[in-house]
Amino acid sequence: MTQDEMKKAAAVAALECVPHGGIIGVGTGSTANHFIDALATIKGRIDGAVASSVATAERLTKHGIPVVDLNEAGDLALYVDGADEATVHRALIKGGGGALTREKIVAAASRTFVCIADEGKLVDVLGRFPLPVEVIPMARSLVARAIVALGGEPVLRPGFQTDNGNVILDVHGLKILDPVALEERLNQITGVVTNGLFARRGADVLLLGTAHGVRRLP
Ligand code: 5RP
Repeated sequence: MTQDEMKKAAAVAALECVPHGGIIGVGTGSTANHFIDALATIKGRIDGAVASSVATAERLTKHGIPVVDLNEAGDLALYVDGADEATVHRALIKGGGGALTREKIVAAASRTFVCIADEGKLVDVLGRFPLPVEVIPMARSLVARAIVALGGEPVLRPGFQTDNGNVILDVHGLKILDPVALEERLNQITGVVTNGLFARRGADVLLLGTAHGVRRLP
């Protein structure tokens, strides 16, 4: 089974979590794209979806799924999104696709966050995948120096601008033993918009595509 087939299996398994009626949140990336394509087959079940990125909004629209502004939607029953790394405690690194800020907002607005991924994303300790940090452009150097002081090696994502008009620093060299503490510490740096640690509000359910079917945590 390829990695993409495992992503697709996890995405299809998440359909079981989709409520009858209401609006759900939808994430960004190749696994989330599989979920959108699968959601299209049951699109009559929901009233619409809040998108975590422009790309996701476009894909939802292409499938005829109404895209709803979060401010109009209120609380969401469900958010489904992928991850770059995940622990068994369901702390995540996200933002490989650069959509971390809107993803964190939609996750915060949702009662249940179902994370879908291939089993290769499961790690013992977060940090092998460079941690994305969205930064206001004029604060790029200031934030980079603060991250170096914390022991990280920030690298500006070349030629990339987020949907919010900001830049991303990908932070290498971190061994994240206390993801909640680091998430809060990074949030304190002036100029940081969001960091890609989803630990204070991690996933409620992790669906991992494996060669032997979909593994659910917890
Ligand atoms: C985008 C994300 C994605 O969920 C993450 O990068 C995983 O991507 P993929 O499903 O393509 O492996 O956080 O900002």
